[in-house]
Amino acid sequence: MKAIIVVGARPNFMKAAPILRAFDEARNDRSSGDIEYVLLHTGQHYDDNMSKVFFSELEMPPPDIDLGVGSGTQAEQTALIMVRFEKYCSENPPDLVVVVGDVNSTLACSITAVKLGVPVAHVEAGLRSYDRSMPEEINRVVTDALSEHLFTTSRDADENLKKEGIPSEKIHFVGNVMIDTLYRLLPKTSMSNIRARIGIENTPYVLVTFHRPSNVDDRENIKSILDALVKISEKIKVIFPVHPRTMSVITRLGAGFKGADGLKLTGPLGYLDFLSLMRDASLVVTDSGGIQEETTVLGVPCLTFRENTERPVTVTEGTNILVGTDPRKLVDEAFFVLQGKKKNGRIPELWDGKASCRIVRKILEIYGK
Ligand code: UD1
Repeated sequence: MKAIIVVGARPNFMKAAPILRAFDEARNDRSSGDIEYVLLHTGQHYDDNMSKVFFSELEMPPPDIDLGVGSGTQAEQTALIMVRFEKYCSENPPDLVVVVGDVNSTLACSITAVKLGVPVAHVEAGLRSYDRSMPEEINRVVTDALSEHLFTTSRDADENLKKEGIPSEKIHFVGNVMIDTLYRLLPKTSMSNIRARIGIENTPYVLVTFHRPSNVDDRENIKSILDALVKISEKIKVIFPVHPRTMSVITRLGAGFKGADGLKLTGPLGYLDFLSLMRDASLVVTDSGGIQEETTVLGVPCLTFRENTERPVTVTEGTNILVGTDPRKLVDEAFFVLQGKKKNGRIPELWDGKASCRIVRKILEIYGK
């Protein structure tokens, strides 16, 4: 059995890494049958600090194939991945394509594989924000509709899929592969010297990330978010590792953004540095998907600056609070949490570090022999 495992953008790497490990373990166990996999990087993210650093930190082999697509509009990027992936699959036909998450690479490779008659397994299926202005929501809905095997992180995702008419036999609730990586690498965060590097060794801080187009592509939006962060930084240090998409807009603000002593902007960080900062943060403010899940597992308070979340379990069970997109509300909620009024949470069902083993076991049950 030959599988292609697709990665493309930063949040894919921590999801694919444990799946590769579980495949390797199964390969060493001869009773699992003859398994081969190819790791294919579309090249959607290409900077060293958005891509390469993760391969060494997550102890992943370098990609066997790099399609080298780079940036473009939604259609350009998706189309170029499809053209190059189709060529590769036609010349090297796989038995299965495994895609993770909700990025353009996930969508592009799913459509291409299914049209070539190759079944697709989607890891992290069924998440829904019900907000079609998010490119990721379109990617999720289309990928799930086309996939043969849908591996979910939470029970609400199973229900979303069933409501869309996906037969129960295709849905497998397995837990969260991103959390497999978190548990495995948490002990290694002691190797990170990030706090010394940014001068916050014994200082409490708030950790921030923003990269959603709806928050950062518009100058006025990002400016009012930065103003809110400056307000928070008058009380506590604020650390903001900036995504390239966000940095390009901040750079264009020029003199329109003055900064503040307590607000520290850095470039994108590697996994261990970021995890180390997240673990010890007094509060995390974000519009990311995965960070809502990681903070829930770490028990760190998280304020999500969005109107909706495709990960409701982090709100109903975890430490996440959906604050909406009013910067004044963000400041109020941040001060509330920093006064010690924290929301307690628990770790969702099956977020136990073993999701990737369940996935590979299921795949082998179907294709292994
Ligand atoms: C993508 C995913 C998003 C994910 C995010 C995490 C889609 C639709 N979006 O958004 O789901 O949460 O990654 O990072 O797939 N850029 C660089 N260097 C890089 C990568 C990108 O400078 O290594 C620049 C690009 O030139 C582009 C911008 O960042 O201008 C956005 O990149 P893109 O891949 O389009 O989407 P993201 O916003 O990163």
